[in-house]
Amino acid sequence: MPTNAPGNIQPSEITPRAVYLQRRRFLQVAALSAAAGWLPLSAEAGVKLTTTGKSPLSTSEPPTPLKEITHYNNFYEFGVDKFSPAQRAGSLITHPWNVAVEGEIRRPNVYSIETLMKLAPLEDRIYRLRCVEGWSMVIPWVGFPLNALIRQVEPTGNAKFVEFTTLYDPEQMPGQRSPVLSWPYVEALRLDEAMHPLTLLAVGLYGEVLPNQNGAPLRLVTPWKYGFKSIKSIVNIRFVEHRPTTTWMKASSREYGFYANVNLHIDHPRWSQAKERRIGEFFKRDTLLFNGYAEQVASLYRGMDLKKHF
Ligand code: MTE
Repeated sequence: MPTNAPGNIQPSEITPRAVYLQRRRFLQVAALSAAAGWLPLSAEAGVKLTTTGKSPLSTSEPPTPLKEITHYNNFYEFGVDKFSPAQRAGSLITHPWNVAVEGEIRRPNVYSIETLMKLAPLEDRIYRLRCVEGWSMVIPWVGFPLNALIRQVEPTGNAKFVEFTTLYDPEQMPGQRSPVLSWPYVEALRLDEAMHPLTLLAVGLYGEVLPNQNGAPLRLVTPWKYGFKSIKSIVNIRFVEHRPTTTWMKASSREYGFYANVNLHIDHPRWSQAKERRIGEFFKRDTLLFNGYAEQVASLYRGMDLKKHF
């Protein structure tokens, strides 16, 4: 069949999906800005964020280069390898973005990302991130403590856990079209873990709005836990009485526990957790208990059998 016949579209003429979605996103933002008479720059990638400066909760270790932080990712909604998120996450539309906060609270509400960013002053927080697979980084986040939001919504006496859910939209998140995980991605913390001053809602890194592949526009960061607890692109925060079953527990409860505290003494069934490879370094280094945050968080788990509650 002749390929240049009228009505015969060449593959090269079809707009790639990511470009199409980017264009759609641009048009949505432009329309919204025109309607509101202002430019919603605050949630756009690459935009500088104003912070109160470096938090004393920061590590003094040198941050991993930006290129590594943004090109070696786990974000299964955009593919299961480390390189796909940077290539494919452009299809995620992060503006407008709303987060529903509900469940066992006195003041349920739907927050726009801009409103959330004004709940508390943004801080620079340089944290270690240790992935369950054995690599680690040092990431200069920008964010605010989750406890600022929790105080605002006033949990009832029944609120024992906080559950977080990622956006579910297979159109924008092509990885959700395959059943590698049960979608949407869900994570959860005990209420006292969620209230801990180290627990951060991140909206940026290296002083700018989060790149999509790092979980734009809002992600959780719990630096003493394995990286999979740090759920990305959150659209729902729910306060509940009973312990939720998280995505990775559903995938393999033997391998991924609810607490997921970094613990060199408890090996993953398929590999040791005693050492880690810091991205950019050649030799492996020893993994620290609670990822080096034991002084701040060990008291949360006093009296608990950490082998059982892994
Ligand atoms: N959140 C969602 N929604 N989907 C994911 O696949 N991966 C987790 C976590 N949050 C993941 C997620 C894992 S396994 C890790 S190690 C960190 O994100 C990686 O964060 P980074 O890519 O910003 O380094």
